[in-house]
Amino acid sequence: MNQDDLKRLVGEAALEYVQPDSIIGVGTGSTVNCFIEALLKSRIHIEAAVSSSEATTALLQAGGIRVVDLNQTGGLDVYIDGADEFDVHRRLIKGGGGALTREKIVAAASKKFVCIADQSKKVGVLGAFPLPIEVIPLARSLVARQLVALGGQPEWRQGFTTDNGNWILDVHNMDLVDPVAMEKTINNLAGVVTCGLFAMRPADLVLMSTQEGIKQI
Ligand code: A5P
Repeated sequence: MNQDDLKRLVGEAALEYVQPDSIIGVGTGSTVNCFIEALLKSRIHIEAAVSSSEATTALLQAGGIRVVDLNQTGGLDVYIDGADEFDVHRRLIKGGGGALTREKIVAAASKKFVCIADQSKKVGVLGAFPLPIEVIPLARSLVARQLVALGGQPEWRQGFTTDNGNWILDVHNMDLVDPVAMEKTINNLAGVVTCGLFAMRPADLVLMSTQEGIKQI
């Protein structure tokens, strides 16, 4: 199986966590797109979805799924989303697609966060993937200087604006041995909307697709 097959496999595996007639949270990215495709094919009826990005909203709506605002729903039972990296404690780096802030909000609102990923995303220590940080445009240089002081090498994702109208810094070579502490530190910098570390609220379950099938972490 190639990586696309592995994404499809884990997208289908996530269907097990979808309760018929419920409202679910849906993340963003190519693996989630496979989940959406599987959901549409499955004919499982869901009442609605809370979406983590404009791209996911478009895909859900094109498939006839109603998308509702989180303010209308209150808490959600389940949130399905991918990751750019995960470790054995189910802590994640997310935001490669730039949707990290809404993803973090929907994850925070959900009882169960099911992360779907192929085996290439599993790491011993987070940080090989550059850490995405959403910043208020005015604060880009200020935040970048502080990230350098923290030991990272921020790179402005030029030409990209988030769904919230902000910018992204991708930070290389951050020391993420203690991701909870670093998440708090970065989130406290003035001008940071949020960082792509999901360590304070990790996934509750990672479904990892491998050549041997789905493994649960
Ligand atoms: C979107 O902002 C990201 O957090 C994605 O969930 C993450 O990048 C995984 O995307 P893929 O499934 O495309 O690898």
